[in-house]
Amino acid sequence: MSSPSASGFAQRFPFIYGAFQSGNRYVVGISLIAALGGFLFGYDTGVIGGSLLFIKEDLGLTAFQQQAVVAAILIGAALGAIGSGYLADAISRRNTKIISGCIYTIGALGAALAQSYWQLLAARFWLGLAVGTASFVAPMYIAELVPPRMRGGTVSFNQLLITFGILMAYVGTWGLKDFALDWRLMLGIAAIPGAALAIGMVFLPKTPRWLVDHGKVDEARAVLRRVRATENIEGEIEEIRAVSRETSRGRVTHLLRPGIRRLLLIGCGLAVFQQIVGINTVIYYSPTILSFTGLDTSSTLTQALFIGLTNFVFTIVAVLLLDTVGRRFFLVVGTTCLTIALVALGCYFYIPYLQANAPYMALASMLFYLVGFAVGLGPVFWLLISEIFPLHLRGPGMAVATFFNWAFNFAVSFTFLTLINVVTRSGAFWFYAFLGICALLFFWFLIPETKDRSLEEIERDLGVPPGRATPPSTPRERATTT
Ligand code: BGC
Repeated sequence: MSSPSASGFAQRFPFIYGAFQSGNRYVVGISLIAALGGFLFGYDTGVIGGSLLFIKEDLGLTAFQQQAVVAAILIGAALGAIGSGYLADAISRRNTKIISGCIYTIGALGAALAQSYWQLLAARFWLGLAVGTASFVAPMYIAELVPPRMRGGTVSFNQLLITFGILMAYVGTWGLKDFALDWRLMLGIAAIPGAALAIGMVFLPKTPRWLVDHGKVDEARAVLRRVRATENIEGEIEEIRAVSRETSRGRVTHLLRPGIRRLLLIGCGLAVFQQIVGINTVIYYSPTILSFTGLDTSSTLTQALFIGLTNFVFTIVAVLLLDTVGRRFFLVVGTTCLTIALVALGCYFYIPYLQANAPYMALASMLFYLVGFAVGLGPVFWLLISEIFPLHLRGPGMAVATFFNWAFNFAVSFTFLTLINVVTRSGAFWFYAFLGICALLFFWFLIPETKDRSLEEIERDLGVPPGRATPPSTPRERATTT
């Protein structure tokens, strides 16, 4: 029996309490391995900026070719995401992750060994396919496996490893400069976590939701027995069966049906807002933004490390507390903070007095921006898209939202420098702040709270009818359900 104070703590901090219970160790371990995909995502998007300084010398890249090398991973990721929604439904979330780990490992080695621009471009595009897949199949896999009361924290391991990957990429970039590390080593070393992901996933189970949805109820029961220390697994099996429509697969076009359309709007809205508030202008261009303040290159690289560290540390806060305070709270508070930071950054560049007398205001504003993003939009976007779509449309729904996320990542990062030229530095940051206000309104009116609810309860809360969630549309579908 636990003491009253222990059970009070468990109520208030379900993730922290759950993560340290011996019965949940297996679940926490599984989630960490699955979240390795997040590390690959963060490392690979973060590493290229600094490495390019050296690659361009070795391979003789023009400015256009350098941009293409950066863009290739984002375009590959958008395409990888859209393709793998189908795969995650057809061959299981787990097997999709094994494939993405293999693709990634080959891509990392290919990039490290590239002898020409074209080889590097192809390797980066190939890597993008794996990164786009891993970016949403990791949260999906974890969400479908863990107990509801710990889902916020465990799914956000993915974002935590994204931020750790970015941090490691920054550290490496710094090492490139100060310790003459080889860029080939920097790109190639990512093959190790890639292989660890592929091999690790072979030993992990498929998710009980996918198994039930494919008629493998006994296997699902066996998995649930391993991952639920204390809970009633028969109740959970019945709940999953009630929402699973074991006879037909959901298709992308089903996302446009009444009742589901709103979920698609929420998922894609979150995806787009996560990018258009300008996160990757800070992640990819922080040295450039800091150099506008007059700092030399070495100081800007060192300060960029603070940016990576703040992002990582505040994501830990989100992991620990998302299951306590809920998704909406962090989303609204975090987006408010980052919007204020953007206004401040705009003011800094607008007012010469501030530039002359408050040299650290730019860095402070960027750090505050990161705090807001790291507790809010960063983890909550990936978490919510793994929660809101009904089981039979989770693959296509998450794939489409992830596609939008990568497409807008590409659009924002590639228009940033032009935007600055057109509307000035302060104008650009105020423009992102305006989009932050739009995001707040969107979240306030449309985002549901999903804390503490099972995925099946969320499905019902959101008005997706139980059982066959969408009516069969074709005569063949109708025939298979009668
Ligand atoms: C976003 C990335 C971003 C990263 C920063 C992720 O959630 O999708 O675009 O670079 O967070 O931490």
